[in-house]
Amino acid sequence: LKEEALNRVKNVQSEKELQDIRVAYLGKKGPITEVLRGMGKLSAEERPVIGALANVVRDEIKDAINQKSVLLEQKALEDQLGMETIDVTLPGRPVPIGTTHPLSAVVGEIEEIFLGLGFSIAEGPEIETDYYNFEALNLPKDHPARDMQDSFYITEELLLRTQTSPVQARTMEKHQGKGPVKVIVPGKVFRRDDDDATHSHQFMQTEGLYVDKDVRMSDLKGVLESFAKQFFGKERNIRLRPSFFPFTEPSVEIDVSCGICSGNGCRVCKQSGWIEVLGAGMVHPRVLEMSGFDPKEYSGFAFGMGVERLAMLKYDIDDIRQFYTNDLRFLNQFKTL
Ligand code: PHE
Repeated sequence: LKEEALNRVKNVQSEKELQDIRVAYLGKKGPITEVLRGMGKLSAEERPVIGALANVVRDEIKDAINQKSVLLEQKALEDQLGMETIDVTLPGRPVPIGTTHPLSAVVGEIEEIFLGLGFSIAEGPEIETDYYNFEALNLPKDHPARDMQDSFYITEELLLRTQTSPVQARTMEKHQGKGPVKVIVPGKVFRRDDDDATHSHQFMQTEGLYVDKDVRMSDLKGVLESFAKQFFGKERNIRLRPSFFPFTEPSVEIDVSCGICSGNGCRVCKQSGWIEVLGAGMVHPRVLEMSGFDPKEYSGFAFGMGVERLAMLKYDIDDIRQFYTNDLRFLNQFKTL
């Protein structure tokens, strides 16, 4: 019996088989238990001899099973390690890499151009006070022009800025009445508009501000013409049309010629061959004054452009929502920017 059991243990391949053997030989219904149970029927002399023998056999089988169990475990571990060996010479799996968002790329282009024109880059908070967003820009409370920009108010005094113009006032305050101030301000702005192909409740602007002694309208025109040609192409021209903003006087709207698009009418350019790209003007004396500059000594120009608009014109994108829905089919078209 012992020989037979040990033999079977030796040839076992799996933990499961080993369990079966354990039950078969050592279990409650196994032969050894049976022998031990039958002890009562034996004579007093036989009992200790048979009992001892049964115990020895049982222990030997038990030991053999336990040893085999350890061996099986080791083998299983080795097999698994063998299977999981890493081939360090295999090439890695390619990780998909994101690309620069077209809006970020366009902001980058705008920044490069204005840095080249001697501007530096300023920033301001997206959650703005009523004072900077409106009052410091010559828009007192109840001024009807506040309605031009439906706002997201947080409290009575705080709102999501509707324009980057508040950074004009913040930057001038920092300069404490001394020019030159020459900055552009790229940033997010927010308005209570219903989203459609040309409106988004969140969009980007880039503000420009140049305050110094003797800054003139012709400087504004020269800077923006240079920008338009660098951004859109040498063949482009700009034109100024009179307009109104509470914080500039006089105020203008600036159009860019449609270039090669005009005539055939590219998707976003109008029939007239001109398209409006930004608002601008000479900084209102009241605004200079409120931010600590003496309007008798200083003058300045300011402009504000919609970044999506510029991007849509340059890359012929027909829906502003494309910038915010993160559709990879759209984004992947700008890999080279
Ligand atoms: N802030 C204005 C707007 O959002 C644009 C602007 C900026 C106009 C600076 C004039 C000067 O419509």
